[in-house]
Amino acid sequence: MKTIITYGTFDLFHFGHVRLFKRLRALGDKLIVAVSTDEFNALKGKAAFFSYLQRAEIVEACKYVDMVVPETHWQQKAKDICKHDISIFGMGDDWQGEFDELSILCDVVYLSRTGEISSTEIKNSLAAKMPNHDINKVQK
Ligand code: CTP
Repeated sequence: MKTIITYGTFDLFHFGHVRLFKRLRALGDKLIVAVSTDEFNALKGKAAFFSYLQRAEIVEACKYVDMVVPETHWQQKAKDICKHDISIFGMGDDWQGEFDELSILCDVVYLSRTGEISSTEIKNSLAAKMPNHDINKVQK
């Protein structure tokens, strides 16, 4: 049984996220996705449009994802790898080299990012089309 884990915010879920999950899931038998909580994003100076619960619900509905867990702090990755008996830690290659120290615990892979799509680009593009609407305002 090969379990893979990946981490991210996954706001405004898009095809770049789907393709990452599809390729990671194909590396083994089970894909766990750790979704950043709103509090953790705030620590990083990031604000997601969708709340943690909404993002987790969307990610969990993707057919390549077997389990969603919250990511609440930077140091939890090593703990998660041991707790879930992870074989592969995978991220997009915008993170190339950033998590190499985890290779003492499991394989670490960086997959090429899908070009020309990101949550930030979607937000900027919508903001440009609707200049009077604050896209960063979280919907309640
Ligand atoms: N990712 C990807 N291809 C994309 C966008 C993201 O493979 N076009 C991957 C990232 O490399 C990362 C994961 O998806 O491993 C989560 O990235 P996240 O930052 O949540 O998505 P982005 O669309 O990059 O969001 P932002 O613009 O806020 O950084």
